[in-house]
Amino acid sequence: MIFNTLLGFSLIFFAFTIIPVSSSSSNSSVSNPDSFVLSCGVSSNATDADGRNWIPDSKYLISSDNSVTATAQSQDPSLPSTVPYMNARIFKSEATYKFSVSPNNSHWIRLHFYPSCFSTYNSSAAYFSVTTGDFTLVSNFSAFITAQALTQAYIIREFSLPPIQSGTLNLTFTPSSAYDGTFAFVNGIEIISMPEIFQSTPMVGFSDQFIEAENSTVQTMYRLNVGGQYIPANNDSGLSRTWYDDSPYIFGAAFGVTSEADKNVTISYPTDVPNYIAPTSVYSTARTMGPNKDINKNYNLTWLFRVDANFTYLVRFHFCEFQLSKINQRVFGIFINNQTAFATADVIAWTKAKGVPVYKDYALYVSEKSGDVELWVALQPAVSAKPEFYDAILNGLEIFKINDTRGNLAGPNPMPASLPQAESQHKRSFAPSKPNNHGTIIGSIIGGLAGFGIVVGLLLFFKHRKMIANGEKSSLAGWLSVYGSSSSSAISGKSSMSSHLSTFGGGLCRHFSLAEIKLGTNNFNESQVIGVGGFGKVYKGTIDGRTKVAIKRANPSSEQGLHEFQTEIDLLSKLRHRHLVSLIGACEENEEMILVYDYMANGTLREHLHKTDNPPLSWKQRLDICVGAARGLHYLHTGAKHTIIHRDVKTTNILLDEKLVAKVSDFGLSKTGPSLNQTHVSTMVKGSFGYLDPEYFRRQQLTEKSDVYSFGVVLLEVLCGRPALNPSLPKEQVSLADWALHCYRRGILEDIIDPHIKEEINPECLMNFADTAVKCLSDQGIDRPSMGAVLQNLEFALQLQSNPDGPKLVAEQKANDAYTHATLLGIEEEGEPSVESGDQSANAVFSQLVNPQGR
Ligand SMILES: *[C@@H]1O[C@H](CO)[C@@H](O)[C@H](O)[C@H]1NC(C)=O
Ligand SMILES: *[C@@H]1O[C@H](CO)[C@@H](O)[C@H](O)[C@H]1NC(C)=O
Ligand SMILES: *[C@@H]1O[C@H](CO)[C@@H](O)[C@H](O)[C@H]1NC(C)=O
Ligand SMILES: *[C@@H]1O[C@H](CO)[C@@H](O)[C@H](O)[C@H]1NC(C)=O
Ligand SMILES: *[C@@H]1O[C@H](CO)[C@@H](O)[C@H](O)[C@H]1NC(C)=O
Ligand SMILES: *[C@@H]1O[C@H](CO)[C@@H](O)[C@H](O)[C@H]1NC(C)=O
Ligand SMILES: *[C@@H]1O[C@H](CO)[C@@H](O)[C@H](O)[C@H]1NC(C)=O
Ligand SMILES: *[C@@H]1O[C@H](CO)[C@@H](O)[C@H](O)[C@H]1NC(C)=O
Ligand SMILES: *[C@@H]1O[C@H](CO)[C@@H](O)[C@H](O)[C@H]1NC(C)=O
Ligand SMILES: *[C@@H]1O[C@H](CO)[C@@H](O)[C@H](O)[C@H]1NC(C)=O
Ligand SMILES: *[C@@H]1O[C@H](CO)[C@@H](O)[C@H](O)[C@H]1NC(C)=O
Ligand SMILES: *[C@@H]1O[C@H](CO)[C@@H](O)[C@H](O)[C@H]1NC(C)=O
Repeated sequence: MIFNTLLGFSLIFFAFTIIPVSSSSSNSSVSNPDSFVLSCGVSSNATDADGRNWIPDSKYLISSDNSVTATAQSQDPSLPSTVPYMNARIFKSEATYKFSVSPNNSHWIRLHFYPSCFSTYNSSAAYFSVTTGDFTLVSNFSAFITAQALTQAYIIREFSLPPIQSGTLNLTFTPSSAYDGTFAFVNGIEIISMPEIFQSTPMVGFSDQFIEAENSTVQTMYRLNVGGQYIPANNDSGLSRTWYDDSPYIFGAAFGVTSEADKNVTISYPTDVPNYIAPTSVYSTARTMGPNKDINKNYNLTWLFRVDANFTYLVRFHFCEFQLSKINQRVFGIFINNQTAFATADVIAWTKAKGVPVYKDYALYVSEKSGDVELWVALQPAVSAKPEFYDAILNGLEIFKINDTRGNLAGPNPMPASLPQAESQHKRSFAPSKPNNHGTIIGSIIGGLAGFGIVVGLLLFFKHRKMIANGEKSSLAGWLSVYGSSSSSAISGKSSMSSHLSTFGGGLCRHFSLAEIKLGTNNFNESQVIGVGGFGKVYKGTIDGRTKVAIKRANPSSEQGLHEFQTEIDLLSKLRHRHLVSLIGACEENEEMILVYDYMANGTLREHLHKTDNPPLSWKQRLDICVGAARGLHYLHTGAKHTIIHRDVKTTNILLDEKLVAKVSDFGLSKTGPSLNQTHVSTMVKGSFGYLDPEYFRRQQLTEKSDVYSFGVVLLEVLCGRPALNPSLPKEQVSLADWALHCYRRGILEDIIDPHIKEEINPECLMNFADTAVKCLSDQGIDRPSMGAVLQNLEFALQLQSNPDGPKLVAEQKANDAYTHATLLGIEEEGEPSVESGDQSANAVFSQLVNPQGR
């Protein structure tokens, strides 16, 4: 269940209906002569991961003399599909595509760019413009810089063009004249015929001014399924749009509550809202402020977006009330950039009924002020209207940029960044595991759960080289959305840091001020230090005067720290599981980078195994801990669309809460794993000696089986009660993995079992446990079990230990169903908190948790 939920879109089965003007299927290029889906630089039809057919581009090019085709040298694992990204057409001079389109229809143009190296063409040298008719879509555009700043592997730009009277749509690529040897390139082009979805739109703050959006070219900046999940192009209502989760854009800790329409509520489109405006999956999920009137009265549900300066933006709000049915129950104000767009919005008053969609457009000019250019959208209960509930609701949000008076839509490239060679500078690469790393952490609920199906959000933490970190002015520019804004040139130190947080982790974690942190740690008093890691120090502290927390403070001089901090925020803010540590919040202020976790009363697993004053753990307790940790890792490997490889599994990274529940921690080194046709990620070897997968070490190719190896060492450490490496022992015994394998093969493993538990272990349980550990240590990754199989074996071992009288019964059960996939998935259901993003109760708990004083 968890898996399905995390895959997000796989749960969205809402039907989409065919609309007259455009084929509703992904096969629009096949069925609609007015639509074109081109994979540039290929010679034959190709199908992408969603089953969409992409056709070659050559016959639409007026002349292919000045262009070449090429294949990317490398495939980034975050690409959603090889088609259309792995092939490109490269233009050395101006070139034009020509499409015959119906003069009656508007069209989407989507341009796909994967800034990689294509044969001898390094896309970092490409600067170009794309124009169509009188409109400039991009200019002096560097896909390379833009992708870097957005920490994305690929970029999609979407534009909507008004009908073209001549019936010919020209799309011209022109390499910039300002650079020598520059070129233009493109990987994919979509021209999709669309109905008119724009109209004359009121300007916020000017009662008598309207913008003629229907006669303009617009660029899609953001398209969000508020309170819902990622919706892939295939599941859109006919216009093959992609809708993203809104949580990464929420500003501040106040998240509100997400909810989903009850099954007995039908979403019925009124005549003035055709269903191509947005799919039912947008209207049937929403974000509201939460149940507490007093809290709601005092906060704004706020989203924050980066945009380019000097343009007019059209903000489209999608509403559908599926909980209440009377006028004046939920009345709220809509604000954009602190201006009132609508003071007393009442969805039922607009729609007259429950389950009826409605959308409202407002336009606003955003000029360049000092610092970042941002667009704020805020909802606030309209207390003055005396509604029954002090609450607000939003189901979907789209932001479009409207061409300026010269027909231009291009903004500047984002600020280029000098990038540290994060990989090669990795200081922890070969550092032995640090015995003093008591990294002490947490266990609370993080709400929201940014749809992990989001291709984009997913890979933020992936691209090391895209991390921007240039010394003092560490500017982690970047924000979610493949559409993206192009501008961040005005970003300066502090503000970019804070907005970085608000756009990445900010959606899912609370912001702390430095003052709060200082208060909570007694001004970083050394006596509060409970651990030191490669990243910096970990302090014990309190927040809100009473909640115990662990506070991880980055060493500001360490660029590596910066990188790991980043990875950890990005990962943890999107993952939630009973057996993974979760983040309460973070603080970025005065160059400080601080992460706040729940305090884990029982410290690390290692502290309970050897050289310790803690009472020895019983065998049953150890098994429970191993099962818990295995669940956490199994979730990392399979619970998300892309595998996440922890890379540093060891007993100091398994933490124990007050009830000795195991939580996997320290995601600083984690990577998303291979996807698509790749079977591994090539990378510098990192991890801790004693736990390091020999195959990974030899071949420098990371797979999730490397975690399985390290976990095998953890299992042996738990069984034997000795460290993974103990240099004070005779040479053949230094490495626990080698020594235990040796003993196992000679049938004397029992000799090295921790004496504290030796008497207690049921022999069958021991056999099962040892077999499992040894399989994990197989030399070849392919011979090692998956984490799911490890988990199952450990659960079986636990049953053998707990039911010494009934092992036969258990064994039969195992024979029956143990290795079926269904069981494997079923395991996760029991006792796990729901991760469904629409889970109201979990989110409500979260709101309270991050907001214990009602803000
Ligand atoms: C779209 O294409 C897929 C596979 O290419 C096919 O199974 C499906 O039936 C097509 N749908 C339509 C509406 O043509
Ligand atoms: C490629 O796709 C186009 C449009 O879908 C279709 O007309 C054509 O027959 C296909 N070509 C091949 C070789 O399959
Ligand atoms: C466009 O609309 C006009 C009038 O409705 C119609 O005569 C014409 O055939 C249409 N053109 C196309 C290409 O559909
Ligand atoms: C492409 O250019 C970038 C930036 O100049 C550089 O870092 C990268 O190594 C180049 N790639 C290749 C394969 O030359
Ligand atoms: C497209 O280009 C052709 C020549 O290649 C030109 O005749 C036509 O007017 C252009 N159309 C537009 C809308 O610019
Ligand atoms: C905008 O387009 C409409 C038709 O869609 C047309 O009637 C109107 O004159 C146009 N306005 C401008 C300013 O071009
Ligand atoms: C829908 O079901 C809920 C309970 O699941 C019930 O409270 C509500 O009244 C039902 N609504 C309608 C319109 O039947
Ligand atoms: C926006 O307009 C102002 C005033 O015209 C100008 O100074 C500024 O450079 C423009 N900014 C951008 C990003 O074009
Ligand atoms: C809106 O108001 C908040 C404070 O209420 C302020 O921090 C923010 O800068 C304002 N935004 C704009 C665009 O004026
Ligand atoms: C909510 O937003 C409005 C409009 O920007 C602003 O006037 C108000 O002060 C905000 N309220 C809070 C509690 O931030
Ligand atoms: C968009 O560009 C067109 C063509 O240049 C122009 O007529 C229209 O006024 C522009 N829209 C705005 C809002 O400036
Ligand atoms: C083009 O973009 C680059 C990178 O953002 C910038 O340095 C340069 O000044 C731009 N050139 C022009 C002519 O705008």
